[in-house]
Amino acid sequence: MKNLENQVIIVTGGAAGIGGALTRVFVKRGASVLAVDIDEDAGEEIQKVNTEKIAFLKGDVSKKEVAQEAVDMAVSKFGKLTGLVNNAHASRQKPLMELTSEDWDLSFNTGFKATLNFMKAAYAELKKNKGAIVNFGSGAAISGQDNQASYAAAKEAIRGLSRVAANEWAKDNIRVNIVCPLALTEGVAQWKENQPEQYKQVASKIPLKHFGDPQKDIAPVVAFLLSKDSQYMTGQTLMADGGDIKLR
Ligand SMILES: NC(=O)c1ccc[n+]([C@@H]2O[C@H](COP(=O)([O-])OP(=O)(O)OC[C@H]3O[C@@H](n4cnc5c(N)ncnc54)[C@H](O)[C@@H]3O)[C@@H](O)[C@H]2O)c1
Repeated sequence: MKNLENQVIIVTGGAAGIGGALTRVFVKRGASVLAVDIDEDAGEEIQKVNTEKIAFLKGDVSKKEVAQEAVDMAVSKFGKLTGLVNNAHASRQKPLMELTSEDWDLSFNTGFKATLNFMKAAYAELKKNKGAIVNFGSGAAISGQDNQASYAAAKEAIRGLSRVAANEWAKDNIRVNIVCPLALTEGVAQWKENQPEQYKQVASKIPLKHFGDPQKDIAPVVAFLLSKDSQYMTGQTLMADGGDIKLR
């Protein structure tokens, strides 16, 4: 399916994990992708997948200037910007009372503030092209999972920001939606290998009985929200989580 033909999309954290899957699938579907990631080795690796259609910017998304650098690079390499996916987010899991101000800063700077900075940097280009933004939330934030306070708070701040931007920027023809994934990334795959019984137990509680495959189960949902097929949707949260959480 080529539902992203002629699109130019920035993917933060786009070199590995879910972001790496997004980069690969978007290119297969006709887009050019600028992957912004802190991991240089993974960035060089993903560029080899398609040297013409994938560009890599090594950068820490928590640094404000990286957002503008990414937009400038996407436009100079590929001529325009039509989509933005704020996927990168780093955090530490600890009980609420043990989280330090450094832990809170890590989650809010890489998650919430990076999302805000990239949205603002991309706004003018997206406005020119009826662009779309997909931000990342989390089922762990919606359900309030133990040890996830700094992560959950930043994720829900991202959803709040996304809904306001959806309303304010509708007149500019920019759509903003959210995806909450549940995916068997490299880290989760390692855990499955080491703790197969534990994996089985957790997976058995998911209605569709398995963690999502980043390329087959998560990327197509994000691609849909970037494509014309979702042109009448904005401000929505889509759960790509095997039915784990049902939003009303
Ligand atoms: N994996 C899941 O099941 C799951 C569940 C709920 C939500 N999410 C969300 O999905 C998104 C992707 O998750 P993932 O599991 O693939 O993440 P991940 O931890 O595997 O990281 C993805 C990429 O982000 C990059 N990255 C990390 N910090 C960065 C920074 N400061 N600047 C630039 N790049 C940085 C990493 O190098 C990596 O390539 C995140 O927003 C995460 O919170 C994932």
